[in-house]
Amino acid sequence: MKRILIYYSLEGHTRFVARRVAGHLGCDLFALETVKPYPSSGFMKFFIAGRDAMFHWKVALQQPLPDLSAYDQVLLATPVWAETVSSPLYSYVKRTDFTGKDLYLVATCSGGPTKKCFATIKRNVHDAHVKGEISFVNASEEQWKDEEALVEFCRSIQESGS
Ligand SMILES: Cc1cc2nc3c(=O)[nH]c(=O)nc-3n(C[C@H](O)[C@H](O)[C@H](O)COP(=O)(O)O)c2cc1C
Repeated sequence: MKRILIYYSLEGHTRFVARRVAGHLGCDLFALETVKPYPSSGFMKFFIAGRDAMFHWKVALQQPLPDLSAYDQVLLATPVWAETVSSPLYSYVKRTDFTGKDLYLVATCSGGPTKKCFATIKRNVHDAHVKGEISFVNASEEQWKDEEALVEFCRSIQESGS
């Protein structure tokens, strides 16, 4: 059973979780990068990134992207932006054929709802099976308190793939 975790992270929270999950699963890890970087601070960060997410605008991603043909399970991880999926992860989902893959979704946020984020991804993955989802609030090395939930999530992925 081959797995890959593909994520986008602007400020490091999703990267932190993605690395932990990939460490537990021993799976491949791939970071999406935008061609044009988002502002990483201040009003413009919220304005531009929030706007792109809200309107589901697609952004150009750096190439190459991973070849998924060898993978049975694909994990997708994103920050929540404007209550929905970040534009880079959305852009990746829109351009990728996940047919026949088992998908697991991971979101990080600062405490707001994640329902729309997961629903938007699910609506766009077509012939894939979304088999699990999990979200983490304020995920960082300093404030980490969700190891148990993360380990349980990884265990469920391993069991479903064995
Ligand atoms: C543009 C923007 C919009 C955001 N919108 C939300 C939101 O609607 N709900 C929420 O809980 N957190 C929101 N956040 C906070 C991020 O989801 C949270 O800090 C996340 O863990 C960041 O992940 P990253 O560090 O990997 O980029 C927003 C952050 C940004 C930059």
